[in-house]
Amino acid sequence: MATHTLLTMPGDGIGNQVLPEALRVLRAVGFDAEYVHADIGWECWRKEGSALPQRTIDLLTKHKLGLFGAITSKPNREAQGELNPELRGKGYVYYSPIVTTRHKFNLDIGMRPCIAFEGNPLNYIRKRLNNGFDEPSIDTTVFRQNTEGMYAGVEWTNPPENICAALGSHPKFKAFASIPGPDLAVSVRVITRPAARRIVTAAFEYAKKRGFKGVTICEKPNVVRETSGMMEETAKEVAKNYPGIALWSTNIDAQLMWLNKNPEDYNVVVASNLFGDILSDAFAGLVGGLGFAASGNIGDEVAVFEPTHGSAPKYAELSPTIVNPIAMILSAAMMLDHVGEGAKADRIRKAIAEVVKEGRVRTYDMLRLSGGPNAIGQGAASTVQMTDAILAKLGEGRAFARPAVS
Ligand code: NAI
Ligand code: MG
Repeated sequence: MATHTLLTMPGDGIGNQVLPEALRVLRAVGFDAEYVHADIGWECWRKEGSALPQRTIDLLTKHKLGLFGAITSKPNREAQGELNPELRGKGYVYYSPIVTTRHKFNLDIGMRPCIAFEGNPLNYIRKRLNNGFDEPSIDTTVFRQNTEGMYAGVEWTNPPENICAALGSHPKFKAFASIPGPDLAVSVRVITRPAARRIVTAAFEYAKKRGFKGVTICEKPNVVRETSGMMEETAKEVAKNYPGIALWSTNIDAQLMWLNKNPEDYNVVVASNLFGDILSDAFAGLVGGLGFAASGNIGDEVAVFEPTHGSAPKYAELSPTIVNPIAMILSAAMMLDHVGEGAKADRIRKAIAEVVKEGRVRTYDMLRLSGGPNAIGQGAASTVQMTDAILAKLGEGRAFARPAVS
């Protein structure tokens, strides 16, 4: 019997192209696992009225470890329009399956490494005062609280009367009291101390493991006093348990400005949900963008790893496929770290580093080409060729054929 069972959820669009590539790499490093397929995403919504079918929830409950590709999601009106006619008008509501998964399994630790590979032509460079450029080696991991904050989902347009009454009891709400309900939208930013403690602790534990000097809490406590205030206060408390590691505090707006100045100074950044989402995309943009951005959604029991990109529908039908599989493969490496197979994860990252540094095999995004059917003719490697190059560095050549996706 295999040591691990991994639930594979390719989802929609390019999720079906990149996830099989990650499996080839996992097999090549000898990850001893049984792979179990699970359905998720837009097709499930259209056919069944749920993008996250109960059978997938059951499988994840059972196996506890998932690798997810990407899903397509669309605004509610379009979602209703694409629903199987037999299901229309029956009260089905579209929810993002990945957000739902994070909530359902309390995958509250969002971990998003943004680490530059030497030689990546997409890396951030900084102009020197006189001449030339610096290419700082960015090694930042953003810890994003995954289940609360602005994405807690507690929101209304035209809030019910009791909510309006409660809001009306706050002196600051008087300014909005005369707005008609249908013109009023409210999203509640919920922060709880236990969850704040968990995300900050995860950030400090990571800093300790990697030997970093500090952790940055990035919020806005001077304005969003209660929720950002609780995040910062909790960070100060947690920091006391890590005497060798400094706690720095930045504001989200200033932090984004400083990305252009000294991004290499931030190794571990921790933030609530929306700010963490923004930060992780901003840092990812400095190290190659969506083709390189991996992530983990980690709870006490269950963990799911995924590239941060979406289903890129406009490239989903291309043959050969052109998208960069590295974000997905790096997500698989994070999964290996999580299950105690760090040596295998390191081998994968080393192989990727070698391919990127050599620069002979580059997908269209790395060549700054516009994606599309002409990319290959312009010198871009296909998705499969990029994986082949990584496998070759692992000493595996083409031995690990691309598995069919069911
Ligand atoms: P996207 O991430 O799918 O694609 C945006 C653009 O980024 C693409 O057109 C492509 O140019 C580039 N790109 C993405 N992945 C790439 C890769 N691996 N290699 C090279 N280039 C890559 O975001 P978009 O177009 O905004 O959304 C498409 C669909 O994906 C939507 O339905 C959206 O809701 C969904 N989505 C799903 C996410 C998830 O599954 N976690 C996250 C983001 C969007
Ligand atoms: Mg995002």
